[in-house]
Amino acid sequence: MRQFKLEVAALLAAWASAAACLDVPQSSQGTCPNNVNAKQLGNKLSNTAEIYFPGSAGFAAAIARWSALDPPVASIVVVPGTENDVVETVKFANQKCLPFLATNGAHGSITTLGKMTHGVEIYLTQLDCVEIASNGQTAKIGGGILAKNLTDVLWAQGKQAVTGTCECVGYLGPGLGGGHGWLQGHYGLVSDQYVSMNVVLADGTLTTIDENSDLWWAMRGAGHNFGIVTSVTSKIYDLVPNYAIETLIFSGDNVEAVYEIANDNWLTNGTMPVDLNNWSYWYFDPTSDPDKPVIAFYIIQEGVNIVDPVYTEPFYNIGPISSQAQSGTYLDLAAWTGISLADPPCQKTGEANPRFPIYLKSYNATAQRQVYDIFSSLVTNSSGPFGSALFMFEGYSQQGVKAFPDNATAFAYRSDNLLVAPLLTYKLDGPELDAYVAQVGNQIRQILYEGSGDSSLHAYVNYAYGDETPLVWYGSEEWRQDRLQTLKKKYDPNARFSYYAPVA
Ligand SMILES: Cc1cc2nc3c(=O)[nH]c(=O)nc-3n(C[C@H](O)[C@H](O)[C@H](O)COP(=O)(O)OP(=O)(O)OC[C@H]3O[C@@H](n4cnc5c(N)ncnc54)[C@H](O)[C@@H]3O)c2cc1C
Ligand SMILES: *[C@@H]1O[C@H](CO)[C@@H](O)[C@H](O)[C@H]1NC(C)=O
Ligand SMILES: *[C@@H]1O[C@H](CO)[C@@H](O)[C@H](O)[C@H]1NC(C)=O
Ligand SMILES: *[C@@H]1O[C@H](CO)[C@@H](O)[C@H](O)[C@H]1NC(C)=O
Ligand SMILES: *[C@@H]1O[C@H](CO)[C@@H](O)[C@H](O)[C@H]1NC(C)=O
Ligand SMILES: *[C@@H]1O[C@H](CO)[C@@H](O)[C@H](O)[C@H]1NC(C)=O
Ligand SMILES: *[C@@H]1O[C@H](CO)[C@@H](O)[C@H](O)[C@H]1NC(C)=O
Repeated sequence: MRQFKLEVAALLAAWASAAACLDVPQSSQGTCPNNVNAKQLGNKLSNTAEIYFPGSAGFAAAIARWSALDPPVASIVVVPGTENDVVETVKFANQKCLPFLATNGAHGSITTLGKMTHGVEIYLTQLDCVEIASNGQTAKIGGGILAKNLTDVLWAQGKQAVTGTCECVGYLGPGLGGGHGWLQGHYGLVSDQYVSMNVVLADGTLTTIDENSDLWWAMRGAGHNFGIVTSVTSKIYDLVPNYAIETLIFSGDNVEAVYEIANDNWLTNGTMPVDLNNWSYWYFDPTSDPDKPVIAFYIIQEGVNIVDPVYTEPFYNIGPISSQAQSGTYLDLAAWTGISLADPPCQKTGEANPRFPIYLKSYNATAQRQVYDIFSSLVTNSSGPFGSALFMFEGYSQQGVKAFPDNATAFAYRSDNLLVAPLLTYKLDGPELDAYVAQVGNQIRQILYEGSGDSSLHAYVNYAYGDETPLVWYGSEEWRQDRLQTLKKKYDPNARFSYYAPVA
């Protein structure tokens, strides 16, 4: 059931009392009207905008999320039809002292989102334009497009963009926190491609920013804190059409051997060849091992039909339980690695999906063994409470990322090489279980941290659990924190954007 903007008046009374203004943190100046009339908002929106209230199917679909742990709670959903609809919605929310949050792919899972207990969800899904510039080198991309939709539109025109890897995740969500993807070895992070963007700021102003704005640095790594991106102009590239993958399944007995080899310098003194990516997962797969989680190691190479044996032979020498070689195109990568629209990470199952991420320079085989043993004690069979947990090890090629200076953007971790995180999927069962998962997730992370030799914890903000500090999400260097604080005071003094990994 769609609730269009002019049909909502009857529902307003109930909602206005549920979301009384007094419940809302007040800004220091001004007073808030104590009733909210969404018809006033509806009148300001374009005729393609939609407003949904609790109890409607449209509302339920818009608020459904990938992780059920500490989700944000909305009292109303606005689906803007135009960039200006976002302006009007933010102004309306401010006027009524209502919190607001932009949403898109609904894969944000950081527990800080749970601090939003009511207010306006601004679901950007209709802002999905893709306009390729006549020179073919950039495209204007809507702030509400999903990765797969963007990839498909560009592919049809012989082009591609750096996007996240998972098909159902938003394009902007990853980019605002940096953004990792298969093409980063060539070009850098998702956000390294941005040329300019249209942003609705905390006060409802729509502004176009680029490298000449002081905000530009912050939007690419800490962007969730500063505005709602209604569209972005990004560099795009010609296609690299063919890819090959080799998937090797190992017994957990081989943890040390596999990760010692995974560290190898690959003929180039520690820099992965630009055409290579590797990932691995640990998960319970009873057909390969009925007793404990397996290691699935993926080696992905572009421009070939079979992965160069130079890269795979050392792994075959360990003795995998099974292996599979496949070839295809860039469009096959998501299905090969279990993150296509049809795969579990794209379903909204109502389970909690916390991760406890850490960036590493290289693997420490001793620490890998220690965390494998803990993971294995949790994941003993597929029907146990953590039967669908997944430990993720992402080894993207890095040249494109390291080609930018460390201070180029608010993304702080260009010098790291590996993105590692246990994903401890479970069914919610009260605060005791939540606390247990947080404890064991952090214990696993602490072991990896101690094995890393690093002197501060580095976590990818877009995988963060939520109990980390801004120093962990955005880098512990004082200049980074100062710069973020200064920009926050300037652009969002009332902390409207404070639900997703707030800088303060
Ligand atoms: C299965 C899976 C695969 C993933 N793969 C990758 C990957 O390959 N690379 C990677 O870098 N990350 C990846 N991530 C992490 C991903 O970056 C974050 O989960 C991100 O928050 C998802 O964005 P979303 O739009 O899907 O989620 P949402 O929950 O809709 O959005 C997350 C937050 O982003 C902000 N936001 C979203 N859109 C906008 C906008 N247009 N303007 C302003 N703010 C906005 C809001 O604060 C919102 O709370 C993955 C996550 C999952 C669960
Ligand atoms: C993405 O594409 C699918 C079809 O492949 C379509 O159903 C969906 O509405 C699109 N979503 C967005 C956000 O563009
Ligand atoms: C690797 O490093 C060594 C020592 O620094 C150097 O001699 C060698 O040329 C390097 N090899 C490559 C492929 O860069
Ligand atoms: C599955 O594992 C859980 C504990 O993780 C255990 O309680 C249960 O007995 C196991 N079930 C089977 C069929 O082995
Ligand atoms: C995997 O990728 C990481 C990150 O680029 C790299 O350090 C490591 O050497 C790679 N290993 C293999 C086997 O490709
Ligand atoms: C990064 O640091 C260099 C050297 O101090 C400086 O010239 C440059 O302007 C800085 N870049 C940014 C984006 O702050
Ligand atoms: C690997 O981790 C172990 C356990 O924390 C630690 O003792 C060791 O020093 C680490 N090795 C390296 C090379 O950092």
